[in-house]
Amino acid sequence: MIKRTTTKVTYRASSDIAFIKYWGKKNKTLRLPENGSLSMILNGLDTVTTVEFSQKLSKDDITIEGESDAKEVIRVVRHLDRVRALAKIELFAKVVSENNFPKATGLSSSGSGFAALTYAATRAAGLKLSEKEASILARQSSGTACRCICGGFVEWLDGETSPTSYSESIFPANYWDLRDVVVVVGEQKKKISSTRGHKSARSGKFYSVRQQHISEKIRRLKKFIKKKDFTNFGELVETEALEFHSILLTSQPPIIAWHPGTVEVMLAVQELRSHGLEAYFTINTGFNVHVLTLPKHEQQVRKKLESLPLVQKTLLAKVGEKPVEIKNHLF
Ligand code: DP6
Repeated sequence: MIKRTTTKVTYRASSDIAFIKYWGKKNKTLRLPENGSLSMILNGLDTVTTVEFSQKLSKDDITIEGESDAKEVIRVVRHLDRVRALAKIELFAKVVSENNFPKATGLSSSGSGFAALTYAATRAAGLKLSEKEASILARQSSGTACRCICGGFVEWLDGETSPTSYSESIFPANYWDLRDVVVVVGEQKKKISSTRGHKSARSGKFYSVRQQHISEKIRRLKKFIKKKDFTNFGELVETEALEFHSILLTSQPPIIAWHPGTVEVMLAVQELRSHGLEAYFTINTGFNVHVLTLPKHEQQVRKKLESLPLVQKTLLAKVGEKPVEIKNHLF
């Protein structure tokens, strides 16, 4: 292996929200999902990561949000190993990563985190990957990261092999001005990680039913996005979220991701619609809620949701772009 001198590189990447969820893996090592998925990148829920490979280090030195003993550190080292193998270097790396939103609460911080790491580490190692290559590499660290490599509205294609399982942008960020009011009802770490949850995906009776209809659902949702048909889009996204949670609730062991505040928000969103404010919810494996709405309703939706007793705060995300290199290094 060649030892090379490398430079310090910093990337900012945004998280995403899946409209049609990735759930279950047909290959755990390669992280090939059981089904395709669709999402929107979230400008405003960002991770910044700086990477530098150095001859001076005798092991990887990783700090995530000020912590060096976090569980994610092992995953980061494994991903650096993939980058080292690709770049044919033996150097250890210093990595510092910061989010501007709560991690491990169902807001896909691993998606933005590993997308930023993929770009920063490959560039720092002297590689220049195409978007498709970056998506394939990011996928192996975290499924969501495979989508967060792209911008705008994103589809993760349901490939059977590693080279065919990657994401692409189906519409750019400026195609449709949607808003995601992210409703924070808690900042504590969720009890069950998505990675663990994926393992029990098939354990309930309803999973096979979901799988039979999922390609059709993706096809329909793409059509609604193309037509900017917010009502049909929102109804389908909300139905998918509830269907996804019925899979979680009926898994063995069951996964009850919701907190009381989660249910309060879900009911409030349905109530908003009865007053003519179009908004629809979706939830990942955490308890915080994504509420999708149109710019004209955003302020009222936020005001109403922030007034709920169990809501701590809301964050606002617009449709985001793909990761960008920035000059403000974290060390
Ligand atoms: C429910 O990407 O977090 O948010 O691949 O093990 O890192 P790993 O899992 P992860 O799973 C995300 C699951 C989901 C749905 C989605 O974002 O598509």
